[in-house]
Amino acid sequence: MVVSTIKGKKNDKHKARRDQRREEAKKIAEQQAIVNAANAIANPLALLAPMFRKYDRNSLQVEFECDFAKNWTSEIQEWGFGITKRNMKDLYGKEWKDKEKQEEMLEDTAQYLIAKQEGSPVAFCHFRFDMDYDLAVLYCYEIQLEESVQRKGLGRFMMQLLELMAFQTQMRKVILTVFHDNKAAMSFYKSKLSYSLDETSPSAVDVEWEVNYEILSKPIKSKQSSIAA
Ligand SMILES: CC(C)(COP(=O)(O)OP(=O)(O)OC[C@H]1O[C@@H](n2cnc3c(N)ncnc32)[C@H](O)[C@@H]1OP(=O)(O)O)[C@@H](O)C(=O)NCCC(=O)NCCS
Repeated sequence: MVVSTIKGKKNDKHKARRDQRREEAKKIAEQQAIVNAANAIANPLALLAPMFRKYDRNSLQVEFECDFAKNWTSEIQEWGFGITKRNMKDLYGKEWKDKEKQEEMLEDTAQYLIAKQEGSPVAFCHFRFDMDYDLAVLYCYEIQLEESVQRKGLGRFMMQLLELMAFQTQMRKVILTVFHDNKAAMSFYKSKLSYSLDETSPSAVDVEWEVNYEILSKPIKSKQSSIAA
């Protein structure tokens, strides 16, 4: 009698754990399907209203285009690498490696949102639809503006375009990495755009873990909850 009760309790525990694992696997599969669907979209910028294809403020007249990195011309790819190196090499210090960065920037799922002024590129975001642990996210790998177009609201507008694309494709958050020493970018993300420390950021996980960067993120409302609200 007693033995069978203990066995019954053990079986219940096993069942509960199995159900939980199944539920988690189902959730991950659903999120992965959302990422795959987003990556199958040829031009995610086309999901947004036409008013979001240009920026005409603060003496800037800029038009946006979006495509996978590998589909851009070699001139644009080289420009993207060049501006990234100019803006970021000092912040990376010894960790900067030309070849590694070039490879990262041209990986299959890398997409570039490019801002062009009179046909010439002046700014870009490298982003990807990807899984971050068990969530579908839009990962912003890079935002780089030529010095001549900085501090005119363009960076903020481009991040907002990423957030809108994340919303349209049902991503759960926009996430990015920023160096501690990049004070301008920290202020840009935290004060201007309301990004906050992601739960996976080194200092959120373990205060003893000394690294030179943080992971910031912003949750994206689901389409369903926006309709209900
Ligand atoms: C960081 C960056 C993307 C911001 O884009 P931007 O178009 O210049 O910024 P916006 O005009 O939209 O927003 C400006 C806000 O960002 C912050 N900011 C941007 N540049 C700054 C600087 N040099 N010093 C201090 N704060 C700065 C401020 O909060 C500023 O608000 P304010 O102008 O009211 O003071 C852009 O300056 C850039 O490309 N920098 C070099 C590359 C880089 O660091 N990329 C980020 C890597 S994580």
